[in-house]
Order: sequence, then structure tokens, then C-alpha cells
Amino acid sequence: AEQNRELRERLMQLKKERNAIILAHYYQRDEIQEVADFRGDSFLLAQKAAETDADVIVFCGVHFMGESAKILAPNKTVIIPDERAGCPMADMVNVEGLRKLKAQHPNATVVTYINSSADIKAETDICCTSANAVKVVNSVEGDEVIWVPDKNLGHYVQQNTDKKMIIWEGYCNTHDMLTVKDVEEMKAKYPNAQFVVHPECRPEVVELGDFVGSTTAILKYCKESDCQEFIVGTEDGTGYQLRLDSPNKTFHFASKYLVCPNMKVNNLKKLVKCLETMQPQIYVPEHVAEQARKSLERMLLVK
Ligand code: 13P
Ligand code: SF4
Repeated sequence: AEQNRELRERLMQLKKERNAIILAHYYQRDEIQEVADFRGDSFLLAQKAAETDADVIVFCGVHFMGESAKILAPNKTVIIPDERAGCPMADMVNVEGLRKLKAQHPNATVVTYINSSADIKAETDICCTSANAVKVVNSVEGDEVIWVPDKNLGHYVQQNTDKKMIIWEGYCNTHDMLTVKDVEEMKAKYPNAQFVVHPECRPEVVELGDFVGSTTAILKYCKESDCQEFIVGTEDGTGYQLRLDSPNKTFHFASKYLVCPNMKVNNLKKLVKCLETMQPQIYVPEHVAEQARKSLERMLLVK
């Protein structure tokens, strides 16, 4: 505790010196969420990065998030606590495969989940996050959509749109681990609880949800609901904001495996260190960034 207090003091001092802003995803460790200027889901954090006046953006999340921030704010310095914090789902799609699919479906619009690399975004018509996926897909012209990389979120969107979706086979290792059996056991144990679930989970798990939505949607639902007890089907870091919003409600995570190891690579010590050394920095080649930016900016305009 004493060490953390010192680290926090050092952090505040460095933040001022560097004119930096700290953005943290809801899946980060509590010790990072505590000191963030903004906590948020992928969508809100991308928006904050695009809008900020700070000189330096410290992005506490996984690599693609820092990259998206750099693409949206090319004149800012973007640093991250640890460059090993990647997203396995983002690595499940490659440019060659996507180009092949585009050649096979020349009339389809490419909609890419923000959990993807800058190279993939550069091959994309419009990005989306889990918070706006259905809205984004419905907003595009034509009735055919190539969807990468998350098959589970793709399946969920397909159920909520008339467009024909050609869906890539990627998935989130963490959310995809949750099984029907896990949820049924939890429901038997906590019969008064509602099950809230992220659409990165498997379709048969999502189907059991009393509420289905992105991280932010789940937070909002639990805060506003009259229900006092929830089984939570998303990453365990979300507990920080859930408990802050509703200290008197009870939250049970649906499985002990709902922990994204990549998100947890970051910690307070590394956060302070990156502001001290201004390393590692995110760098995106301008010819890639320019193409990728169009797909992200187009997403930010969808109402
Ligand atoms: P959201 O932030 O859109 O809920 O996405 C979940 C996720 O897995 C981020 O890596
Ligand atoms: Fe990637 Fe899943 Fe971790 Fe999000 S929770 S960063 S989608 S592995």
C-alpha cells in the first residue's frame, strides 16, 4: 500500500510535467483504473484519444487500442505500459486472408471490429466496437458485409440485422472460454441473479443472457436495474466500475477464467515507468495510418 502511494504521487507529478492523459480500459487492474483520467470501453477511449488536448496519451489496455489512439491523434505521443499486452483475437486475421475474401465478394462492405491491427483497419471500410456494432452494420450501403475478426460478435450482429454477413472465424480466448455449463451452475447457485453477458461470448452462452451488451451497456444496465444481484459474463476487471456504481449490489463473475491475461500484463509500476522513460511508444507508418484513420473516423460519425 505504501509503495503504491509513492507510485501514485510520482505518477501525478509526471503527468503534470508531460501534460499527459491516462486512458484505461475497464479490463485493466484496479490499481490502474484508480489513477486513470478516463476509464472506458474501446469506443469511449477511442473518442477520448481523438478529442484530447494533452501532448501525451498513456493508453492502458492492449496494443490495438494504443494503435487506434495514435491513428486518431497522429500528432500526439502515445505510450503504453508494456508492449507485450496484445490481443490474440486481433492476431487471428491477416491482410492476405482479408484481401482474398474481398476479391471473392467485391460488392461487400468490410466492417472490422476495432480489435484488429492497423494493417487490417487500412483494408477496412468502417470500424466498429461492441458498443455500436449493430448500428454500424445497419448504417452501411448495400446488403452484404464482410465481418472480421470476431465470429461470436458477428453471430450476434447477424441476429440483429437484415444484411448478409460473411463472418471471419476469430474469437476472444477469454470470453469464448465461458460455457453453458458454467452459466447454468451459477444460475442454480444464485437463482435471484440476472445474467448479463458480452456478445464476445459463444452464441449459446449469449442466448442465456437476461441482458446482452458491450462493457458499457452492461455497466449501465446493472446500475439502472432494480435487480440487486448479477452473474457477470464479461472480463473480471469490469468489477471495479460495477462495484463503484452500485456498492450495495452483488456481482458474481460467471467463471474464474474470465480474466484476460493480456490486459493484466500492465500494472501501476509499469505505468509510472513508461511516463518516466516515455517508452514504449506506439508508431504507425503514415501510409497505413492514413487508410486506417478513414475507417475509424467513419465509425465515430455513426449516430
Ligand atoms: P468493449 O470495450 O467494446 O466492451 O470490448 C471488449 C474487449 O474485449 C476489449 O478488448
Ligand atoms: Fe482481446 Fe479478449 Fe483480451 Fe479483449 S478480452 S483484449 S478481445 S483477448
